Amino acid sequence: MAGEVVVAGAKNSALKLAAAALLAPGRSRITNVPDISDVATMADVVAGLGAVVEREDHALVIDATELTSYEAPYEVVSRMRASIAVLGPLVARLGRARVAMPGGCAIGSRKVDMHISGLQALGVRFAFEHGNIEATAPDGLHGATVTLEFPSVGATENLLMAAVLARGTTVIENAAREPEIADLAAFLGALGARIEGAGTPTITVTGVESLTPADHRVVGDRIEAGTFLVAGALTGGPVTVRGVDSAHMEMVLVKLEQAGCHIETEPEAITVLREGPILPADIQTLPYPGFPTDMQAQFMALMALAEGSCVITENVFENRFMFADEIVRMGADIRIEGHHALVKGVDSLSGAPVRCPDLRAGAALVLAGLAAEGETEVMETTHIERGYERFVDKLAALGADIETREE
Ligand code: UD1
Repeated sequence: MAGEVVVAGAKNSALKLAAAALLAPGRSRITNVPDISDVATMADVVAGLGAVVEREDHALVIDATELTSYEAPYEVVSRMRASIAVLGPLVARLGRARVAMPGGCAIGSRKVDMHISGLQALGVRFAFEHGNIEATAPDGLHGATVTLEFPSVGATENLLMAAVLARGTTVIENAAREPEIADLAAFLGALGARIEGAGTPTITVTGVESLTPADHRVVGDRIEAGTFLVAGALTGGPVTVRGVDSAHMEMVLVKLEQAGCHIETEPEAITVLREGPILPADIQTLPYPGFPTDMQAQFMALMALAEGSCVITENVFENRFMFADEIVRMGADIRIEGHHALVKGVDSLSGAPVRCPDLRAGAALVLAGLAAEGETEVMETTHIERGYERFVDKLAALGADIETREE
C-alpha cells in the first residue's frame, strides 16, 4: 500500500461540538464533520431536543433557538454512549436534563460517576429513576473547583459545557488534555465563553450570562490518521496522511519509529515508510499526551507481526482486549494477563473469517487482514462505519485489495 489519504474531522470532537451548539440560541455551523453513523446519531439526539438540524456536505447546521425537550432517551443513549454529552449543555441552558443511564458497554464498565459528582459541585441535583439520570438545577449553576479523580474526557467536557453558563468561576483540576477538549473549548470560546487552560490539566472557566451562535471547523481525526499510519507500517508504505496536526500524534509517531518505521512530518501531513522488519515496541495506553487507548488494537495488529515480543498495557479501560481473541484466530500469538497483553510476533498471519467486537478493534482486524496471507472476511462492519468515513474506499485508493460484500 502506498499513497496519500486525507483524514476527516475528529469523530470525538464533532459529537461534542454538536452537543455544545445547544448552549447558544441561534444557528451554529460546524464544518469538517465526518460522514459517519455516530454523527447521524448525534444529529438525531440534538434534533430530539428541539434543535433544527441540517446536514450539509461535511457540515452540521444546528439551530438551537428553541429547545422543546430536555430528554435523551435510552433508545439513543444505548446506541451511542457519547449522547451523555448533552447532560451539561441541557442543565446549563434549561436547568434540567433527563438522560438515560448508558449501561454496559463492549469495552468494560464505563461509569459516569465523575460526570455526576462534578456537576453536583456546580449545583446540579441528581435523582436516578427508571434507568434515567434526572438532573435539575433549580437555583441555576454556580462556579466551583472540581478535582477529577482521573482525567476523564467525557467528564471534563460535560463540566466545561455546564460551567460556561454558571455564575462565577469554575476550576477543573486534573482535566483531560486531549486535542478534542481544546477543540471544544475553542468552539465554546467562539460562542462567547471565557475559558483558559484548555489542553492543560487546569481549566478555568468564568461563567457568562448567555452565548451566541458561531461557526467552527472540527480538528482533524488523530485516531483515523493513526489507523492509516499503522496500515502503512504493516504493509511498508510510504503512506501519507493529510488533514491532521502532527503535534497531536507525538506518542503514536514515537512508537511507530520504535517499531522500525521512518516518519516524516509536515504541520498538516505525516508520512510513514518501513523498509526493515517490524520491531517490537512496548505500549501503555494513558490519557493524552500518552499513547491513545483508541490506537491500542491497531498497534497490537502491528506488533503481532513484529520480530520479537512486547507487552501492551491497557490503563484507560477495564476490558479492551477483545481484538486479541479475534486476531489469535488468524495465527497471532497473544496472551492476556489482566491489563497486559504479551504479544509474541509471528512470521505471518493467515486470513480467516473474523467479527468486529467494536469500532477500533474492527478497524484493526481490517488492517490485520491486509497484512495476512489469503482472504480475511471481516463481519459486523457497522461498528467501523460508526467512526470511519469511507474506510474501505480510502484503503482501496492506497492500493489495498479490499471490497465490501453485503452480509
Ligand atoms: C472518550 C472517547 C473514547 C476514548 C476515551 C479515552 C468519545 C466519544 N469517546 O470516551 O473514544 O477511548 O475518551 O480517550 O470522545 N470513568 C469513570 N467515571 C466517569 C468517567 C469515566 O470511572 O465518570 C472511567 C471510564 O470507565 C474509563 C476511563 O475513566 O475507564 C476513561 O473514560 P473517559 O476518558 O471518560 O472516556 P470517554 O469520554 O467515555
